[in-house]
Amino acid sequence: MTARTGQEGVLLSEGVSIPLIGFGTWQLDGDDAYNGVRAALDIGYRHIDTATAYGNENRVGAAVRDSGLGRQDVFITTKCPPGNAGREAQTLDASLSALGVDFIDLWLIHWPPHGEARPDMWKAFVAALEQGKTRAIGVSNYSIAQIDELVTATGRAPALNQIPWNPFVFNEREVAELRDHHVVLEGYSPLKRSDLGNPVLTEIAAAHGKTAAQVILRWHVEHGFVVIPRSRRRERIEENFAVFDFELTPEELRRLDALGA
Ligand SMILES: NC(=O)c1ccc[n+]([C@@H]2O[C@H](COP(=O)([O-])OP(=O)(O)OC[C@H]3O[C@@H](n4cnc5c(N)ncnc54)[C@H](OP(=O)(O)O)[C@@H]3O)[C@@H](O)[C@H]2O)c1
Repeated sequence: MTARTGQEGVLLSEGVSIPLIGFGTWQLDGDDAYNGVRAALDIGYRHIDTATAYGNENRVGAAVRDSGLGRQDVFITTKCPPGNAGREAQTLDASLSALGVDFIDLWLIHWPPHGEARPDMWKAFVAALEQGKTRAIGVSNYSIAQIDELVTATGRAPALNQIPWNPFVFNEREVAELRDHHVVLEGYSPLKRSDLGNPVLTEIAAAHGKTAAQVILRWHVEHGFVVIPRSRRRERIEENFAVFDFELTPEELRRLDALGA
């Protein structure tokens, strides 16, 4: 897959397009959340990842509003904490209110509650989708077996699974299983969990005049994995989005995939 601008998306099962690169906001509080989202939208990101647990939805919402972009131009994900099982509708209403929006684009179960799939929670997510409060629904940190449990109980698969992902944990079998389930793979902590000094990465980066971080993010884009890097520094927010002006060769992709072996 080759993406040439920042706006290419992946189609979720609901027919909604999610931009391949989003801006992560975990651990960005107050001004850092506001300034980070403002910078990201200014630079060209059109996808923001937050969560009830991050405690920054109000600052994220303010930044989206102040950006001057239309609500429909920014893809917003938020997540329901596992501890809020049984209070899903109230949790989503609180997210909508904090963000200051009528709907979100993607709502995720943040973690399997106590390691369980919880089809009852998933049913509440389906209800929210049917009410139009979210355009798509998915999960995070779910195994394939847990996804199967949701499908068996409700007939509806999550549109997406947000999981830790980078070349060092790449696993072809997991990719194939999610694809077979029509579940889009979204990677989190792409940089933090990577060895940015790895010689394969630095060699490929040097060949393209790019940084190791950019090679990792480009690797996601070429595979069609959604990815949500986070930074509190404007220059890095910019760096992490400047990955649409080069392409990895098939051999480079193979070498990066092999880091996960
Ligand atoms: N669903 C889940 O359970 C879950 C879990 C974790 C994360 N997430 C989501 O995924 C997003 C990303 O994951 P993450 O925040 O854990 O980690 P990350 O984006 O992989 O890494 C963030 C760290 O990398 C640094 N960094 C950013 N850009 C860099 C660059 N170009 N070169 C070198 N270092 C760079 C940042 O420092 P500076 O700020 O100093 O630049 C920060 O310390 C989160 O913000 C959140 O939205 C979801």
